Amino acid sequence: MLTERMQRLIREMPKGENHIHIEGSIPARTALKLAKRNNIAMPFNDEDSMIRYIRSHCGSLDEFMACDRLVNSVCQTEEDYYDVVYDLGEDAKKQNIVYQELHLDYPLNEERGIPMDVVMKGYEQGRQAVKRDFGVDLVFIAGIDRSQSPEKSTEFVKNLEPYLGMIDAVGMDCEELGYPCILHKEAYEIAGKMGLFRTAHAGEEGDCRNIWDALDVLGCQRIDHGVRAVDDPVLVRELADRKTLLAMCTRSNVRLFPTPADHSIKPLMAQGVVCSVSSDDPPYVGDLLWEYEGLVTDLGFGEDELIRVARNALEYSIKGQHHLALFDAFVRKWKDNDLK
Ligand code: ADE
Ligand code: ZN
Repeated sequence: MLTERMQRLIREMPKGENHIHIEGSIPARTALKLAKRNNIAMPFNDEDSMIRYIRSHCGSLDEFMACDRLVNSVCQTEEDYYDVVYDLGEDAKKQNIVYQELHLDYPLNEERGIPMDVVMKGYEQGRQAVKRDFGVDLVFIAGIDRSQSPEKSTEFVKNLEPYLGMIDAVGMDCEELGYPCILHKEAYEIAGKMGLFRTAHAGEEGDCRNIWDALDVLGCQRIDHGVRAVDDPVLVRELADRKTLLAMCTRSNVRLFPTPADHSIKPLMAQGVVCSVSSDDPPYVGDLLWEYEGLVTDLGFGEDELIRVARNALEYSIKGQHHLALFDAFVRKWKDNDLK
């Protein structure tokens, strides 16, 4: 049961978030502001109608991507990209998120003819302002659109060279079915040589083969989603032994299981797999607090399990381990108060 105390714990824990996409997370207030600024017509005109529209247009990953592309088209200038990251930072602060790993999916902007420098400069200025004004650490993951050709993804990774000061990782997302991750082996090899951390969406709508390949062919140090890992006991053992983080988003996966209670995070954790939770694309599915609340209401997580998942998001993060002392001090205080 989601008690008031649980809600407080969820709100007050200093949290990390490993899996959220800038382009899929443009807050409704920001999307409307930018649509007006750039004179772009959208099929909605206020926050409620935008949320209703996007939530009724994402029955599959492919439909979601179409909607994601539509909303993202409000971004045109460096200032727009800055505003998106700044407003996301404001929302992070409100949820007591201290560290957040953001996928930036430049290919969704490139296909509209926006130069890489415009996007990157806007995002980087936004990141610095978020640290200054909200104290939130943002880390960028450059997302390969796996529906593009291998030549294109290789070129994309090579083009990251001038931005290595702001990018810490490479990831892979967008439509999964029909686009096995091994197509992008060369891009990952180059990313590894550039010193980038490697992660990939795998086993979301796709199967365990894609997770194995992400690990063994692409050299991924973690997996985003990975919900289907539960189908392969050997893979479960391997993930647990390697302590490979599954950066899961249970609310975002609602279409993938018969009911929310059937989500694979629980059996995977019970078998020793390290999992964290994130919002993925908040306007479509809800924010990080809502994600944690779902662990309680849908999956019966107790306080200790919530704390474990939240700690994983920092301990197994790309570079958020320095927040662990703050997290552990919070937990000690929370438990001390409990005893009084
Ligand atoms: N881009 C944004 N959200 C995504 C998801 N859940 N899967 C793949 N690509 C995405
Ligand atoms: Zn995702």
